[in-house]
Parts: sequence; structure tokens; C-alpha cells
Amino acid sequence: MARLRLTLVRRVECEVVVERGAVRELATLWRPDWEAAAVIGDDNVIALHGGRLRDLLAPVARKIAVLGFLPGEASKTRATKEDLEDRLLAGGFGRRSCIVALGGGVSLDLAGFVAATYLRGVAHVNVPTTLTAQVDAGIGGKTGVDTSFGKNLVGAFHQPVAVVVDPELLETLPAGERRNGLAEMVKTAVVADEELFSWMEGHTPALAAPNPLDAHAIARCVEAKCGVVRDDETETGRRAVLNFGHTIGHAIESASSFAIPHGVAVAMGMVVEARLAVALTGLPEEHARRVETLISKLGLTPFPRVPFEAVRPFLAADKKNRAGEVRVALPARIGVMARTPGGEWTHVATPQRIEEAYARHLR
Ligand SMILES: NC(=O)c1ccc[n+]([C@@H]2O[C@H](COP(=O)([O-])OP(=O)(O)OC[C@H]3O[C@@H](n4cnc5c(N)ncnc54)[C@H](O)[C@@H]3O)[C@@H](O)[C@H]2O)c1
Ligand SMILES: [Zn+2]
Repeated sequence: MARLRLTLVRRVECEVVVERGAVRELATLWRPDWEAAAVIGDDNVIALHGGRLRDLLAPVARKIAVLGFLPGEASKTRATKEDLEDRLLAGGFGRRSCIVALGGGVSLDLAGFVAATYLRGVAHVNVPTTLTAQVDAGIGGKTGVDTSFGKNLVGAFHQPVAVVVDPELLETLPAGERRNGLAEMVKTAVVADEELFSWMEGHTPALAAPNPLDAHAIARCVEAKCGVVRDDETETGRRAVLNFGHTIGHAIESASSFAIPHGVAVAMGMVVEARLAVALTGLPEEHARRVETLISKLGLTPFPRVPFEAVRPFLAADKKNRAGEVRVALPARIGVMARTPGGEWTHVATPQRIEEAYARHLR
């Protein structure tokens, strides 16, 4: 078991429990001043786990509501948020409510954002149920929704009081969703944990399906992400390293009108960005090859074909860009991200260099 306490700059404490069966501890994390619980998740996760959460909370919460919404990224909008808020208001949920965000990143981002603004902010607890959410979205306090102008453009930093990471919840996860999470796991290992990367290389067949080893790998990712977030809670500097693979990945995702799953797009992005790192930050060629091999052994290849011409316009729109330059978070070696001589965590990559790396390695 791993139990971490993430104490953040604003002195908010967030308890993170990673353990098989951890969800059974939900009641022990309940605070005496909370009166009501609102479990919020998409209809799939509510159907799978909503009833169980209601039973687990029944001994500690005086009032419980379980609120679902249509599954999928298309629901991560201000409209769904408003609908959830109206349902909470109609149900008489007051300041002493705790929102229990249950599900993948969509549910957590949305329910966390509801918690951030409902009655000017109420407590929330995250119970991530996808691998992506257990290693990434559930940790760090970024909440928000998408708009027609782009993804995650409206939101808030709002730390959960606790995050309950139970790898057993992954047993019902479809294989494609698992692969998306494995890509994020590779990202975390490249960014901050060389040992985890080597461990993953030694466990590729087992990692393809849910297994008892998950708890170890997930705990390492959670620890690594907590380390980065602790340093930079509101993403003014170092937290940008978590975007490894994502500059190119997001552009690929957008170019495919989101037909390519996020994890696959990020895996493609990591392959290209590792090659940029060989050229720009001295990543050993051998490390770039290890990244490619691991991605392929985890079942993320063969990659779909996306011509660079389709990707180029979306690169120009990346949030990290400044003054029209494309900025990328790049490793110096596996487990260590590179800084510029000026101390910055993102590096300028010219469109020509990106195109060259893209054309050679994604075809
Ligand atoms: N806040 C952050 O720091 C952060 C980090 C990474 C990603 N995100 C966000 O997360 C979202 C992606 O998250 P995701 O990949 O978890 O997608 P998701 O929440 O849409 O979940 C994927 C699918 O799996 C289903 N599902 C969830 N848990 C299940 C389970 N245990 N068994 C069976 N099915 C299950 C869901 O109903 C959904 O259909 C994106 O919106 C992204 O922007 C946020
Ligand atoms: Zn991601």
C-alpha cells in the first residue's frame, strides 16, 4: 500500500491512498463536518460502482445523492456543469457537502469543477476509475470543462481533500482505455522515474491486462506526479514537464477530430518529442529507442497514419506557445527532464525540426 500526503503551497492537504480495495476506506476519510455526499460520475461508472459508493457512504453521510451524466468527452461542458449544479441546488445541498467525483478524467474534471464553484466552493474527494485518471487526472487539482474554442479552457485549480486510488476498480475497464492509461504511465516514467521505466520494460506482457502489479506502478506514478505538483501547484513552471508527448499529441488528436484516442496520440507525440530531444537536449539515441520499444510492446502501435500537413495548424495553437514559437517539454534522459540554460522547462522547436522528426518517425 502507498499512502501519500500531498501538502501544497497553499497549505491544503490532500491525502492520496493507493491500495487494492482502497475504496472500502472511503468512510474513514469522511470528515465529521460534512453532512451530505453527492456522488457525481458518468452513467457507465455510476451503473458499475454508484450503488457500492452509496452503501459505503451510508454510515457516515446524512444525505446522499448519486448524479450521473452521459459518458464521453462531449459531456465535459459548461452545460453539463450547470445541469449538475441545478440538481444539487434543487436537492438542497449546502456548504457542508462533499462531492465524491467518481470515474475517469471526464467525471473528475467536471465534478471537481462543480466542487470548485458550487456555493463558492465545497470539498471534494476523487475516486478515479480509469488508469488515466488513477495515474494522472485524479491527482493535482486541475479541474475544468471544454469549450467550442478548445479543450480544458475554463476551469479552476481546486485540490481534492482526498484521492482514493483502488486498482481493483480497473478490472472492468475496456482494453483500449487501459492502453490510454499505459501511455500516460510511460509519460510519467520518462518525466520523473527511470526505475519505473525499467520496471515497465520488464513487465510488458503483464501490464497489458489488469493484475496485482498495477498497484505498484500506479503508486509510483502518483508519487512522481505529487512530486511535480508539490513544486508547482498552479503550473507556472516545472509542472509543464508533465506535457511530455502532449504538444505533438494534442495536435494529432485535434487533426484527427478526436478520432484517435488520447493515449495513442500521446504515444505518437512521445515518439516525435523523444527524437526532438535527441537533437535539442542531448537525450541519448538509445533512450529514444527504449521509449519507442516500450510504447510498441504495450500495444500502442501500429500508429494510425496522420499526415504532418494536417497536424501543423494545430501546433500553432498550443497553450504553452509564446510569441508564435512552439514550446515542448523534453527529457535529457529517461527520468530527467531538461531545462534550458535560462532555467525554463520548455524548449523552442522550429516547425521545420518538428516536421523532420515527425516525417522520419511516424511516416
Ligand atoms: N485534470 C487533469 O490533470 C487531467 C489529466 C489528464 C487527463 N485529464 C482529462 O481526462 C479526460 C480523459 O479521461 P479518461 O481517459 O479517464 O476518459 P473518461 O473519463 O471519458 O473515461 C473513459 C471511458 O471509460 C469508462 N469507464 C470509466 N471507468 C470505468 C471502469 N472502471 N470500467 C469500465 N468503464 C469505465 C467511462 O465511462 C468512459 O466511457 C480528458 O477530458 C482529459 O482532459 C485531466
Ligand atoms: Zn494526457
